[in-house]
Amino acid sequence: MSLQLGDLAPDFIADTTDGQIRFHEWIDGSWAVLFSHPKDFTPVCTTELGEVARLKPEFDRRGVKVIGLSVDSIDDHRAWAGDIVETQGHALNFPMIADPDRRIAELYGMIHPKASDTLTVRSVFVIGPDKKLKLSITYPASTGRNFEEILRVIDSLQLTSKHSVATPVNWRQGEDVIIVPSLSDEQAREKFPGGWRTLKPYLRVTPQPQD
Ligand code: BEZ
Repeated sequence: MSLQLGDLAPDFIADTTDGQIRFHEWIDGSWAVLFSHPKDFTPVCTTELGEVARLKPEFDRRGVKVIGLSVDSIDDHRAWAGDIVETQGHALNFPMIADPDRRIAELYGMIHPKASDTLTVRSVFVIGPDKKLKLSITYPASTGRNFEEILRVIDSLQLTSKHSVATPVNWRQGEDVIIVPSLSDEQAREKFPGGWRTLKPYLRVTPQPQD
């Protein structure tokens, strides 16, 4: 059975480039992103890891810890790090899990045998401070991910965890949001004293609440 939204993210002990961690302790009440890449010393993965390093301040600003994983060794991760800074201009600034026996990859369903029975796919798991799974996405090895999109989703997840709103298509930080349909107009008047526009009874648009 694959991991589903709302499930507790499985705990594990792992060797990382920053030393051994116990995953739940490492999360420590923060938001977290656990992502896999298929293989060290491969071209798309090299660009992705450089991009995550570039965006690390953006993850930090949102209180999100980032950790990568592949089925390679710590020695490979460390050797590859030199190629990443050389070609992408950004040094690795987050831990990378070494999972050569695929124990964690199997635990999180990162191996899709019909794609490859030895390498992980490109999985992303966003985990909330309650250690529950808030988002999972899977890309094939041939397609690099858009980590700006992961940040956009995190903005939505963090906003919607605090307010009775949902975010519309292509929403970005600061844009109007939707009042959740489960809130009656009467309840909405209390939470959104500034009001809203009713396009349909189920589609009420209001400015993004400020913290
Ligand atoms: C890559 O990162 O370029 C890659 C990794 C595994 C399979 C195919 C491509």
